[in-house]
Amino acid sequence: MSDKHSAGEVPTTGHVWDDDLGDFTNQPPKWWMLGLTASALWCVAYALYYPMIPVSSSSIFSKGLGGWTAISEMEADKSKVDVVRSKFENKLKDMTPAAILADRELTEYVTRSGKVLFGDNCAPCHGPNGVGTKDKNALFAPILNDDDWLYGGKIDDIHTSIAGGRKGVMIANKDLLSEAELDTLAKAVAAGKPTSTPLFTEKGCVACHGPDGKGMAAMGSANLTDSVWRFDNSVEGIKQTIRYGVNSGDPKARIAVMPAFKAAGKLSDVELKKLAVYVYKFGGGKPDQVAEAPAAAAPAAATPVAEAPAAK
Ligand code: HEC
Ligand code: HEC
Repeated sequence: MSDKHSAGEVPTTGHVWDDDLGDFTNQPPKWWMLGLTASALWCVAYALYYPMIPVSSSSIFSKGLGGWTAISEMEADKSKVDVVRSKFENKLKDMTPAAILADRELTEYVTRSGKVLFGDNCAPCHGPNGVGTKDKNALFAPILNDDDWLYGGKIDDIHTSIAGGRKGVMIANKDLLSEAELDTLAKAVAAGKPTSTPLFTEKGCVACHGPDGKGMAAMGSANLTDSVWRFDNSVEGIKQTIRYGVNSGDPKARIAVMPAFKAAGKLSDVELKKLAVYVYKFGGGKPDQVAEAPAAAAPAAATPVAEAPAAK
């Protein structure tokens, strides 16, 4: 074996294998022993400093000599975040949504917290990021990330939609139209050319959908020429919409109600502003209106059509 030691110089453990293989009792190297001792001390110190020894909840050993708790660490982190946030939050209180939108730094901040608010309150109906959903419980909530708006895409319109809710009403026409008239109208609408039949004017559709059939923001009436559909767009589906209306009170009417979030008290004023900016930033907002004067100058179109029931 090794020529450093010959049998007899160093004591062996006494074990012998294969007749002549023995075990020396040499000490491990010094660096190794130091490492071992240091880590053992480290374990003891660590166990005393942090809450590791489950004696009883009042014991100093159970609490740890260092007084560290996960909660206090989290709270310390949170108060650091709060300091950063309060700088923004305080500003937001007195600002209009339009003013927030005009400030790049604030918009960035608001968009980030708006994402969480939207996920919690709006996504169940409008889909993540406003892409819409086919869920029947979503009450035909419109897609919010396109530039097609029922009530207008100006920042104040969007804010009013969220705060006050929306409930566009289209009357039931089942007693006002013959089957043939219904058929003609539905086919014209399905083709995206509602004005191609004089019935569109004669039967009063223009009163709400406008003389060109492109909808009116003040009514929340749909643009019937843009091939963006919320309800069933088959001829049969369109007939059903025309026959029974929307939110008309008829038992077969289509129901499409946007809850009023201000009245429901679920969201604070600042949160409502954050959401307005967040939705605007989906990309469909009407930018030329950004610098416009605040709420006082909001156009008539921004008035809620009806007081929607509070979110339950
Ligand atoms: C219960 C389902 C539901 C929830 C929840 C909901 N909405 Fe709506 N939302 C609707 C419906 C339905 C409409 C369309 C109302 C109408 O047709 O009159 C609408 C309309 C809107 C509009 C107007 C769209 C346009 O084209 O003018 C905006 C903006 C809007 N919602 C934003 C939000 C935001 C932000 C939230 C979360 C705070 C939210 N909604 C939560 C169902 C919902
Ligand atoms: C009192 C106003 C009013 C009148 C009158 C009216 N509509 Fe509407 N209509 C609306 C509103 C508001 C909506 C959108 C519903 C909503 O947003 O909740 C709508 C929606 C529709 C839709 C569904 C569009 C889609 O995207 O699925 C069709 C189709 C339609 N109307 C056709 C007609 C026709 C045809 C007439 C005439 C017979 C008519 N409407 C008369 C207010 C009206």
